[in-house]
Amino acid sequence: MSSVATIKRNVIPPHLEVKGGYPLTGILKVSGAKNSSLVLMAAALLTKETLCIKNVPHLTDIHVMSEILSNLGAKLTNKGNSIKINSEFIHNAELPYRLVQSLRASFFCIGPLLTRLGEANIPLPGGCNIGTRPVDAHIHGLKALGAEVEINNDVVKAQVSTKDKRLRGANITLTYPSVGATETILMASCLALGKTTISNAAREPEIQDLVKMLNSMGARIYGAGTKKITIIGVENLKGTSHFVIPDRIEAGTFLIAAAITRSPLIVGPLIPNHLSAVISKLQECGCSISHHGNNHIKIIPREISGVDITTSPFPGFPTDLQAPFMSLMATAKGSSKIKEKVFEKRMQHVIELKKMGACIYLEKNTAHIKGVKELVGSNVEGRDLRSSAAIVLACLSAKGNSIFTGLEHLDRGYEKLEEKLTNVGSIISRKFNQTTSHNSLSSKTISEENIDTQKKAA
Ligand code: EPZ
Repeated sequence: MSSVATIKRNVIPPHLEVKGGYPLTGILKVSGAKNSSLVLMAAALLTKETLCIKNVPHLTDIHVMSEILSNLGAKLTNKGNSIKINSEFIHNAELPYRLVQSLRASFFCIGPLLTRLGEANIPLPGGCNIGTRPVDAHIHGLKALGAEVEINNDVVKAQVSTKDKRLRGANITLTYPSVGATETILMASCLALGKTTISNAAREPEIQDLVKMLNSMGARIYGAGTKKITIIGVENLKGTSHFVIPDRIEAGTFLIAAAITRSPLIVGPLIPNHLSAVISKLQECGCSISHHGNNHIKIIPREISGVDITTSPFPGFPTDLQAPFMSLMATAKGSSKIKEKVFEKRMQHVIELKKMGACIYLEKNTAHIKGVKELVGSNVEGRDLRSSAAIVLACLSAKGNSIFTGLEHLDRGYEKLEEKLTNVGSIISRKFNQTTSHNSLSSKTISEENIDTQKKAA
């Protein structure tokens, strides 16, 4: 690919350099689930005893949650992928905005703080790159349990004004099976007085993992994984040791990495029924998938054809794998349609995939994709966690070299990603603050070059 020298010297922020087009082989190792670990850590506030959580991934989101718990007065010790948390002496019922802003999941602390301290002052998490992310369902649930909740200057102030400072069980129906709202209500009600039911509850595996741990702490919760969950309040919860489930979204991302590079791979550990919708779509588009050992999957991609997906709550196709799957559809044979129905702004990968030569027409939250023979390496940028993963997958399959910037997003949800990909044969490396010299390609030049190449190839 000819290069057009730029005369200005730029500093490229920390980035990944990817040489595309290399087949992969071997085993892609799956870490513990980020979206389970975060809520399990918040649940540590519910007991004065020590909670040991194992198989926790090393991610920036986990480090921020650790800082949040320390800020509240909890004591944390880390050893490898295990975290011990003791919140006997928590003394602070409020969180600083800078921490809440950097991690929405910090809002999970509101239920446990209300239960433990009878009050909680948490800034509204606000929107993020994928949507407005309201917390109205969380607040509705807390009010139903007897909390007084008001929002002043974007801070959620909640308190329990009964003499015993205890929430009361209630029958709560969610208008939408919100994962976070279900988790907030679960943690607020397990020590409430009396019985609580949650109808139209979220059924995600992370909910089931949370309930498994809470019950091992002495809670009495029934029906996790179904639309109706019943919680019988208890007097207190004790410490326990809990092993986090494998991250189904990372596992799905790796299965798609195999498919997009047309490489037979083994992925695990994972729990297959946490990925049923993804596995059936991968089979539908041309991959053969079989169990390998007791908790791994072997995927053998054949010719990949376009298939349509619509995201929906579990057990439907997960919104967190919509972007990675779109990268796969960009080089599939034929057309496909991808509808995002969970979040309102989750198509930020489209512009970057088009820069690489993908043929995608976006109509609000529906992407119409016409597969191309191959993508072309480019300077590409991730703008949220899952879009970043999608773009890295596209770089793995593209012809030529790519520079990926946006590591601050990627590092929130994928532990040691380039190390894991290198172990199966990818040529991918992390670079820090390089300056571009002469003969380097400016991103604009690469994309123009790519589109010309793509036109010739089409
Ligand atoms: C959790 O977010 C996950 N995050 C998300 O993963 C995941 O995409 C999402 O569940 C759906 O599976 C964590 O667990 C930390 P929701 P959450 O409440 O709880 C609306 C990732 O990439 N809603 O089920 O915020 C909301 O706006 C992240 O790892 C309300 O309207 O998801 C959205 O449209 C991204 N009011 C829909 O419901 C509320 O009070 C789903 O949200 C709550 C949610």
